[in-house]
Amino acid sequence: MRFQNMKILVTGGAGFVGSNLVNKLVEEGALVTVLDDLFTGRKENIAYLDDIEFVKGSVTNFTLLEKLMKKKQIVFNLAVRNIIVSVKSPRLDFKVNTEGTFNVLQAAKELGTEKVVYSSSASVYGNPKYLPINEDDRLSTINPYAASKLSGENYCFAFYETYRLPVSIVRYSNVFGVNQSPLNPYCGVVSKFFESIMKGEVPQIHGDGEQTRDFTYVDDVVEATLLAAVNPRAEGEVFNVGSGKETSVNELVQRIVNLTESSVKPVYIDRRDIDNIRRRVLNIEKSRRILRWTPQITLETGLKKTYHWLLENEDHCPQCIPPKVKPMKSMIG
Ligand SMILES: NC(=O)c1ccc[n+]([C@@H]2O[C@H](COP(=O)([O-])OP(=O)(O)OC[C@H]3O[C@@H](n4cnc5c(N)ncnc54)[C@H](O)[C@@H]3O)[C@@H](O)[C@H]2O)c1
Repeated sequence: MRFQNMKILVTGGAGFVGSNLVNKLVEEGALVTVLDDLFTGRKENIAYLDDIEFVKGSVTNFTLLEKLMKKKQIVFNLAVRNIIVSVKSPRLDFKVNTEGTFNVLQAAKELGTEKVVYSSSASVYGNPKYLPINEDDRLSTINPYAASKLSGENYCFAFYETYRLPVSIVRYSNVFGVNQSPLNPYCGVVSKFFESIMKGEVPQIHGDGEQTRDFTYVDDVVEATLLAAVNPRAEGEVFNVGSGKETSVNELVQRIVNLTESSVKPVYIDRRDIDNIRRRVLNIEKSRRILRWTPQITLETGLKKTYHWLLENEDHCPQCIPPKVKPMKSMIG
């Protein structure tokens, strides 16, 4: 157990990725504190709520952060205002994503925290020139979210280079899976498609559906993040965390339609005005080589796990399962 009795703070730990990380840390024996303002997070996401310390508050509150970070060995910084909120309210995005990250680093420097891991995003690549995207390819901040996430990264590098603060950055691509709740209005595209298809509604695809993404299952993302925390060779480094596979939105919808045995056909609507990236797939060789990390969950298996979870947790999507077609457990295994 890599984290046995380690004192760890997770910001944004009630959110989608954060809660999966917290659950795994508890299973590995860590003593976890979560700081989350519950903007999109839900305490119910944390399976071991009774075994952790939960503090409702914001990363923008430096005094609180400093208090919570005292004697913590590792801090995972996942608190975020998401891309949709950030486009509507770039100042709030800046406050949480950039200044919040700065606060974590400043407190870590003052307190001598052993390790900070910053969860960044493949959004920092914008529309890439080449595929698959390497960590040192051109960065392009085409929306405020990408700008704030990249600013967070830049401060991580600055604190590493100037003060030798041990910090690692993990850049995730299109994460999906358990705890990505359709109740969250900003949830990812996989959850949105499951929700509409399970409700028997027509899924709406922006553009022609031939845009691609690198869909990554949350357990793989959690494992890469944990490996970045414990590997000394990860200090001062940034790692792509993706599946390394390119999937079009059309293919994704078709897979969900097949899995749910639905007969709905998607409709095509206007191109999205944010996150309007044509193609994305990450090169994950550096993560394989240094972190010794390889994604374990294929898209097909990840979608099955997500479907299973939605069926078992209908409170996340109340109209997803009409009572008369509610499947037996044995039908979905
Ligand atoms: N989900 C993805 O596909 C994806 C892709 C790339 C990067 N990421 C990164 O992963 C991290 C987690 O994202 P997620 O998908 O779990 O999002 P999420 O919205 O589910 O989780 C974010 C959490 O941060 C909390 N939060 C928001 N503002 C806060 C504040 N001021 N103080 C404390 N907590 C605050 C929210 O309540 C929520 O629990 C983020 O840093 C995000 O940039 C996610």
